Amino acid sequence: MKKLKVLILAAEATPFAKVGGLADIAVALPRALRAVDVDARLLIPRYGNIRSEDYDFHRVGRPIPVPIGPNESRVHLLETTLQEDLPTYLIWHDKYVSSCREIYGFNNDPQRFTFFSRAVIEVLKTLDWKPDVIHAHDWHTAPVVAWLNFYGRHDPFYRDIATLYTIHNLAYQGLAGRLLLPFARMKELPHLPVEPPGKVSWMAQGIAHADLVNTVSPTYAREILAPEAGMGLEQLLVERAERLSGVLNGIDTELWNPDTDAALPQPFNAETLSMRSVNKAALQRESGLQARKNVPLLGVVSRLDRFKGLDILFPALRQLLDGKELQVVILGTGESEYETRLRDLQEQFPAQVRVFIKFDERLARRMYGGIDLFLMPSLFEACGLSQMIAMRYGAVPVVRATGGLVDTVLDLDAQPQHGTGFTFASFEAAALEKAITRALALYSQPQRWVALQQRGMKMNFSWESSARTYVDLYRRALAIHR
Ligand code: GLC
Repeated sequence: MKKLKVLILAAEATPFAKVGGLADIAVALPRALRAVDVDARLLIPRYGNIRSEDYDFHRVGRPIPVPIGPNESRVHLLETTLQEDLPTYLIWHDKYVSSCREIYGFNNDPQRFTFFSRAVIEVLKTLDWKPDVIHAHDWHTAPVVAWLNFYGRHDPFYRDIATLYTIHNLAYQGLAGRLLLPFARMKELPHLPVEPPGKVSWMAQGIAHADLVNTVSPTYAREILAPEAGMGLEQLLVERAERLSGVLNGIDTELWNPDTDAALPQPFNAETLSMRSVNKAALQRESGLQARKNVPLLGVVSRLDRFKGLDILFPALRQLLDGKELQVVILGTGESEYETRLRDLQEQFPAQVRVFIKFDERLARRMYGGIDLFLMPSLFEACGLSQMIAMRYGAVPVVRATGGLVDTVLDLDAQPQHGTGFTFASFEAAALEKAITRALALYSQPQRWVALQQRGMKMNFSWESSARTYVDLYRRALAIHR
């Protein structure tokens, strides 16, 4: 069979620009695809913080005109190789792409990413490499999918390019007034019944126009067909259900390996698990907590937003900290309301709680390798990566049974032989508290606890099988497209 050519489009990619798990997937997926003989490449925006001094990229070709509103504006294309093997393109445009040092959070985000997407269309024609499939991730790159299906089908160059659209987070839809459409020369794009009057939802357009749609876990793929998780798009998703599937994300098991992790004071594996306590003691000291071996150390590593379940985390922790001997370390940044509430928690329990309000991957690694329990009480979770990393690093997860958390963590009481953690169903502080209490009860039985840790460490969360599933999806998308 001919080697498949796949172009991955995303708004984030590690190490250039990262807010959440999408950045890791955008790089780990094409790397895994290349390992199964797909010519996968990556294309991302070049934000203002991505400096040429830090990366070895070169400019390709001449500036490329992008039609925009009644005019046109030129972008530059840069090229580099990520992690020794992955060809990566970056689009540079002073006004809409590269003036911002942050990825999201500007009033004109829809305009910025619509421009970026529109530029992708033009850039495709200038590359000496043409993808068979465009694999677009989340709403930021959905305009490419919509354009290809609605306009591209009339152009012989674009006509045969198939599309796969992946949903990572349905809560963010790229909603904007329809005036954005003439800006992108897409004013004929039909309004969808699920879109609010006068608005365009790029998330909806991506779902409606892609040859195939997927999300990042089988459970989330089912959940979004119903109102709560569907976020207003459930009707459209139900209509497209035959084209929708769930493919579980993997983690890069080389990058996340407790046996070789240079950030850990003491590397370890499932056979040398007793050495892990060195990391716990170091983390306790680093956090200004008493270095006590037998006091359970709970940890949270999270973006601080509502969907991560912080509203039930605070009351549950307060309840537990009050009576029991335990310690909590929390690392994250995000909404200022939650940052304040975290500081309050630390103030209320200074001897037991330490919060780090920042993004710090090395500290995250020391946490995964040192904490006993990893808490992830998400309201929604398309997949979630940190629970898999936690397990690989010997931290036992306590998670809400939602989305990808269902597909990756098995409750010990439900499955005594195979369980890898503790899950709870209802989104309530009391339910979380109960799950943590179950975990703490097991923690006081060292033998069973170690067996639980080892089972988690031995889970296979590698990309290999998911990469093959994606290859099947690409081939199916091509067949449908023809
Ligand atoms: C988003 C989702 C998260 C998923 C990640 C990567 O951040 O919220 O659940 O793991 O994308 O797919």
